[in-house]
Amino acid sequence: MSEQTITIIVTRQDGPDGGSYEEEFKVPYRQNLNVISCLMEIRRNPVNSKGEKTTPIAWDMNCLEEVCGACSMVINGKPQQSCTALIDKLAQPIRLEPMKTFPVVRDLMVDRSRMFDSLKKVKAWIPIDGTYDLGPGPRMPEKRRQWAYELSKCMTCGVCLESCPNVNSNSEFIGPAALSQVRLFNAHPTGEMNKEERLEALMDDGGLLNCGNSQNCVQSCPKGIPLTTSIASLNRATALQSFKNFFGSY
Ligand code: SF4
Ligand code: FES
Repeated sequence: MSEQTITIIVTRQDGPDGGSYEEEFKVPYRQNLNVISCLMEIRRNPVNSKGEKTTPIAWDMNCLEEVCGACSMVINGKPQQSCTALIDKLAQPIRLEPMKTFPVVRDLMVDRSRMFDSLKKVKAWIPIDGTYDLGPGPRMPEKRRQWAYELSKCMTCGVCLESCPNVNSNSEFIGPAALSQVRLFNAHPTGEMNKEERLEALMDDGGLLNCGNSQNCVQSCPKGIPLTTSIASLNRATALQSFKNFFGSY
């Protein structure tokens, strides 16, 4: 077992404007390795499978327990978190590529700013005055709290955007993650006060109308977030908002 090796082919890119190329590495096999432990092994000894010294591979990571969303990459064709991708469950050679929906910073590290910009666009927060103690806020009904908790598990990992055919560099579509966060913040008893602003943002360019209902997002989300249920619910809420806007103007 100790003589076994793992073959990893990495799509590399030296910087945001460089061309990409593949480099193959061999890593000694151990049980229970994940993709990040292999990348760390390569970083300790950056020599490719031809025996040539090379530069260490760049990638993003933080929590190492599928909570922060930073380590997403395309592993054997599937966008997922590299910290929880177990080597024993992957066919070899293992191919690692950066997500294509986001600009590459270097190697497997991408810039997910478009996701954070989308959260700003839809005002995915609850504005409260923090200058004095407001006391406990209104309680959320238990049934609503339960589904809202599921939506709150989003880690902005980008996997749902990567698997959506309508999110790309030519489209302004904010993608399923930010849409679902509108449903979450609009469900909050305090967040509800800014409900209309968030719905208006979804009725704007890059909003709900850009969704082609491919349903890839809900299948790919590692947190099992019911994204298509959120989208359907927001479709109803924005339709109602349009009526209100129309009749409110008379
Ligand atoms: S909705 Fe799921 S796939 Fe999309 S960013 Fe959030 S956690 Fe990742
Ligand atoms: S390192 Fe945080 S999700 Fe993988």
